[in-house]
Amino acid sequence: MKVDVLLGLQWGDEGKGKVVDVLTPGYAAVTRFQGGPNAGHTLEFEGQKYVLRSVPSGIFQGDKVNIIGNGVVLDPALFKTEVEQLEASGHDLRSRLFISRKAHLILPTHRLLDAAYEMAKGDGKIGTTGKGIGPTYTDKISRNGLRVGDLEHNFEAKYTAAINRHKEILGHYNYQLDKLAEIEKDWMAGIEKLRQFTFIDSEFYINSLLAEGKNVLAEGAQGTMLDVDFGSYPFVTSSNTVSAGSCTGLGVAPKNIGEVFGIFKAYCTRVGSGPFPTELFDETGEQLRKLGHEFGAVTGRPRRCGWIDLVALRYAVMINGVTQLIMMKSDILDAFQTIKACVAYKVGDRETDEMPFDINDGVEPVYMDFEGWNTPMDKMTSEDQFPQKFVDYVKFIESYLGVPVKIVSVGPDREQTIVRK
Ligand code: GDP
Ligand code: IMO
Ligand code: MG
Repeated sequence: MKVDVLLGLQWGDEGKGKVVDVLTPGYAAVTRFQGGPNAGHTLEFEGQKYVLRSVPSGIFQGDKVNIIGNGVVLDPALFKTEVEQLEASGHDLRSRLFISRKAHLILPTHRLLDAAYEMAKGDGKIGTTGKGIGPTYTDKISRNGLRVGDLEHNFEAKYTAAINRHKEILGHYNYQLDKLAEIEKDWMAGIEKLRQFTFIDSEFYINSLLAEGKNVLAEGAQGTMLDVDFGSYPFVTSSNTVSAGSCTGLGVAPKNIGEVFGIFKAYCTRVGSGPFPTELFDETGEQLRKLGHEFGAVTGRPRRCGWIDLVALRYAVMINGVTQLIMMKSDILDAFQTIKACVAYKVGDRETDEMPFDINDGVEPVYMDFEGWNTPMDKMTSEDQFPQKFVDYVKFIESYLGVPVKIVSVGPDREQTIVRK
């Protein structure tokens, strides 16, 4: 059996959490392979709404195993809060949420370093989520990180050495450490919570599941355009969000990857700084934000909104080897008379449909117009009910991207999901 991967094709917040929850019944286990609590994955069912940060989105489907893989960075304090909220709503996770010993720990000082590095960047700020993601992955790559498994081996000494090293760096940035003691207290309480969970060698665990004929769903965080190698660098996150990241983030060989589900919004959004060629600064952008409730799942930050960017999407399909597309938030476009899709970029006096090295400067979108369908889609339950103009829009996207759209989402609820034949 194989690991199927579900990942975002845009700048994150495509609706990954919702679809992972919907697909989970078809899998033995769901596992996160990269990112950390910079993610906010929203799920809605039975009138309840949940936002998950580090816990995989398969947690609400019966007794399915959920795994936090080695490629993830974990903040014990935020993990504690998330788990306690889930426990308070009647979801006990301890028997079915397992954590890789090789996942890296976000230390209290990583969060401070994130803030210090952002401050030092001045106008070039990335607009990070401030969760310490970059500094934690930096320590991982420079071989200074602390891992979950270190909690079982001489942890205090390793922790103190790391914190002292960070304090020295923070000193160079003249960063005030007055908040550290308080953050550290929460963090240590988080460590106690974390110790209540089962730590596993997840690469063995996942490969054993496959050998037993069970299949696994890998849940991506962020999106392809935030990938550290292929995204809009340097305005990206610090992990490989693309399908290849699931191999290193889980310990699964490329030949064991099956389907790659690429998920995208019927339009496009981005949070934080960085280029966004199809961004709208007008009334239409405002309308997308309002109708789509485009505010961060965790921070409440307004998301930047614009039309779908097929140049970026085709690039994402290529890098990830997407085998099936999933289109989200189709219902949000119900209200528009005209819908635009970016089919090429104008760079200087040249037109291209390939992603340029740098989209930070001077990239103009070239649009194709589609007539809006102006029919509410949110109560539709089967593709037979789709308006013809919507079908035309989807057909164009499929032909441009060369991959079929297999699922169409028409609302935030689990039930508002239409699987196409
Ligand atoms: P993720 O990070 O990729 O899991 O996505 P987020 O949860 O950050 O953002 C997606 C938002 O869109 C959430 O508020 C979802 O409840 C909502 N959502 C997902 N699918 C749909 C849809 O088809 N229609 C509408 N209207 N909202 C959706
Ligand atoms: P989900 O999984 C949208 C963005 C931040 C910032 C950049 C770097 O919910 O789709 P970081 O804190 O990772 O160093 O920030 O990446 N970013 C996201 N944007 N959705 C996310 O996650 C994101 N995670 C990080 O806004 O621009
Ligand atoms: Mg999100």
